[in-house]
Amino acid sequence: MRALVYHGPGAKAWEEVPKPEITAETDAIVRVDTTTICGTDLHILKGDVPVVTDGRILGHEAVGTVEAVGSGVRTVKAGDRVLVSCVTVCGSCRFCREGRYGQCLGGGGWIFGYKIDGTQAEYVRVPFADTSTYPVPSGAADEDILMLADILPTGYEVGVLNGGVRPGDVVAIVGSGPIGLSAITGARLFSPSHVVAIDMADSRLEAAKQFGADIAINNSREDPLEAIRALTGGLGADVAIEAVGVPATFELAVELSRPGGRIANIGVHGEPATLHLEDQWIRDITITTGLVDTYSTPTLLRLVTSGQVNAGRFITHRFAMDEFDQAYDVFARAGETGALKVVLTRSS
Ligand SMILES: NC(=O)c1ccc[n+]([C@@H]2O[C@H](COP(=O)([O-])OP(=O)(O)OC[C@H]3O[C@@H](n4cnc5c(N)ncnc54)[C@H](O)[C@@H]3O)[C@@H](O)[C@H]2O)c1
Ligand SMILES: [Zn+2]
Ligand SMILES: [Zn+2]
Repeated sequence: MRALVYHGPGAKAWEEVPKPEITAETDAIVRVDTTTICGTDLHILKGDVPVVTDGRILGHEAVGTVEAVGSGVRTVKAGDRVLVSCVTVCGSCRFCREGRYGQCLGGGGWIFGYKIDGTQAEYVRVPFADTSTYPVPSGAADEDILMLADILPTGYEVGVLNGGVRPGDVVAIVGSGPIGLSAITGARLFSPSHVVAIDMADSRLEAAKQFGADIAINNSREDPLEAIRALTGGLGADVAIEAVGVPATFELAVELSRPGGRIANIGVHGEPATLHLEDQWIRDITITTGLVDTYSTPTLLRLVTSGQVNAGRFITHRFAMDEFDQAYDVFARAGETGALKVVLTRSS
């Protein structure tokens, strides 16, 4: 089969590799029908994630068709269309039993395209297939369901639910990439009074408005603190969601929140950020952090199939699987290309 293989910083190739085989009785082999690229894959390609070594197949999002299952798999069978989620779930460890799948101690968590071979391939081995895949509802388009592999649960769980968004809230969302847009999408489900999107790229702010932001602020030109204060009688946002991953945006999210407000960090940070406790100790704020668990996937599946969440609008570009080079190039130059999510589909 062919797969997108990482060969050290800056190097990748769509090349011939051995087809995966069942190695544990709880495994499934899934034929990948559609897959996508995540910002995390770009971090890996830069060499920022040293756990990923030469020879690793990249990717942690897919929708596919089950080809074979191990003898211990109970609920998934050959021929089933499934969502392969970015988080793998052993189902029996302490954290899986709490629904905290991202922290799985039994060999799951985020492993695809990181610790084991990933989904940017013609076939993928899926460990703990019963608990790590979700059936694709009949009638649902593969590419809509694909958005549930990572971005939609991330924005919803780590941003909206951790931030405790409630009706009438003013919600400030820093960053309007696919994750920030997912947070906007999730926040809207709770009838906030205002969703304020903050980004430095006008193309992303345009997308934010289409996704339901009431106010879009370019913080390279405008002071978001002033705008939020004007909107809230000087108090600040009820919920501030950080969806970028640099110190400045975390510090901004804290600044934007009101006394008693909630700050939900989603961004993956590579450097320390400053928490100004000398100002914040008195303000009753709550800060949450987290890796996506994907416990909300069944809920989001219902919201997508009922039409309450429009997953298709994340998709800006489509490619065939042998066009990974072009797809990565378009995705990496999102500022110029306007890319949000690029989808790669198997040429049947
Ligand atoms: N916690 C999790 O489980 C989890 C899961 C997936 C992704 N993430 C992280 O979420 C973050 C966002 O992901 P994404 O795919 O949307 O990334 P992205 O790079 O596509 O989007 C980030 C956006 O932030 C904007 N930005 C950059 N610097 C800014 C600044 N100083 N002020 C305002 N806006 C700024 C960019 O213009 C861009 O639109 C990343 O850090 C990613 O690694 C976390
Ligand atoms: Zn991802
Ligand atoms: Zn577990």
